[in-house]
Amino acid sequence: MQEELKQIETEALAELKTVGDLSDLESLRIKYFGRKGLLSTVMRGMGKLSKAERPVIGKLANEVRTSLTEAFNGVERTLNQQAREGQLAAEAVDITLPGRLPRLGKKHPVTQTFDRIQEIFRGMGFQVAEGPEVEHEYYNFDALNTPAEHPARDAHDTFYITDSLLLRTHTSPVQIRYMEKQRPPIRIIVPGRVYRCDSDASHTPMFHQVEGLLVAEQVTFSELKGVLYAFVQQMFGEGTRTRFRPHFFPFTEPSAEVDISCTTCHGGGCRLCSGTGWLEILGAGSVHPNVFRYVDYDPEQFTGFAFGMGVDRIATLKYGIPDLRLMFDNDMRFAQQF
Ligand code: DAH
Repeated sequence: MQEELKQIETEALAELKTVGDLSDLESLRIKYFGRKGLLSTVMRGMGKLSKAERPVIGKLANEVRTSLTEAFNGVERTLNQQAREGQLAAEAVDITLPGRLPRLGKKHPVTQTFDRIQEIFRGMGFQVAEGPEVEHEYYNFDALNTPAEHPARDAHDTFYITDSLLLRTHTSPVQIRYMEKQRPPIRIIVPGRVYRCDSDASHTPMFHQVEGLLVAEQVTFSELKGVLYAFVQQMFGEGTRTRFRPHFFPFTEPSAEVDISCTTCHGGGCRLCSGTGWLEILGAGSVHPNVFRYVDYDPEQFTGFAFGMGVDRIATLKYGIPDLRLMFDNDMRFAQQF
C-alpha cells in the first residue's frame, strides 16, 4: 500500500506537468481527489490493514494528500495568472494613438451680438433686466401710450393667445414692468425675444431686441445722442457716422430713428443700403409723459430716454448676412463661419 501511495504521488506530479488549462486541471483533480478517485480508493482500503500498519500508512496517505493538494493549487495559480495576463494583453489600449476630436460648437452670431451689446452698455453703467415673452396687452400696448384704437397697434402683426394675452411684439413692455417696481434713477438694458406675424428675407416671426431705458432728473435728448453715439462707435467701429431722423413712436416724444453710415460702402451707396449710404439700426426718443403717468412717476420731476434695437438686424449688418432666415435654419455650416 505504501508503494501504491508513492506511485500515485509520482504519477500525479508527472501528469500535473502536462496540464495545459484550467479544465484539464479540473479533470485531473477529479481523477485523484474525486469520490471515486485514486486517492480515495486507497484510503477506503485502509480498513483492511492491521492495527500496527494503520497509523503508518495513515500518516503517509495524509502527507501525499497534502503535497499533492499544494502542487495542484500551485498549478492553478499559475494557470489563472497566465489567463489574466493573456486577457490584459488582448484588451490593451494603445494610448499613443491620436484621439478623435469632437465637433466643436460656436456661439450663434445672434448670441455673439447680444454679448457685445451688453458688454458695451455695461461699460456705460447699464444693468440688465428681463421680462416675460407671454405678455399682457396692458404692458405691450396700453401702458406704452398705445390704447385700443391706436393705429400703431396694427403695425405690430401681433400673435394673440387670448383676448388680452399675447406674445410680446417688442421688449418695450419691460420698461413699464421695471418702473412699476423701481424708482429713478434707472439705467437698464433689456435683451430678449419678440414675436410678430411676419416672414420674408428681412423678417422672421421670432426675432431679438435690446431695449434701453434711462430715467432720472433733468435727462436730456443730447444725453440719448451721446450714449447711442458711443454705442455705435464701439459696435461698428470708430469713424461710423450716426444720423437721427425724426420719427413717431407712441411711447416717446420726440422720437427718432437712428441710422449709421453703411457698413459695406461707408456711405457711397450700395445694394445693402439700397443706394442711400445709410442703414437704420434703432428707434429711440425721450420717454413720453403719459408713460410716466402709467407708472406713477411725476413727469414734472423725471425725464428720460429709451431706445430699442433689432439684434438680428445688427448681426446681419455686422457680418454681412444676406437673408435673416439663415439665422434660424440651424445649419452647422452657417454657424461655423462666425
Ligand atoms: N419698440 C420699438 C419697436 O419694436 C422700438 C423702440 C422705439 C423702442 C423707440 C424704444 C423707443 O424704447 O424709444 O419698433
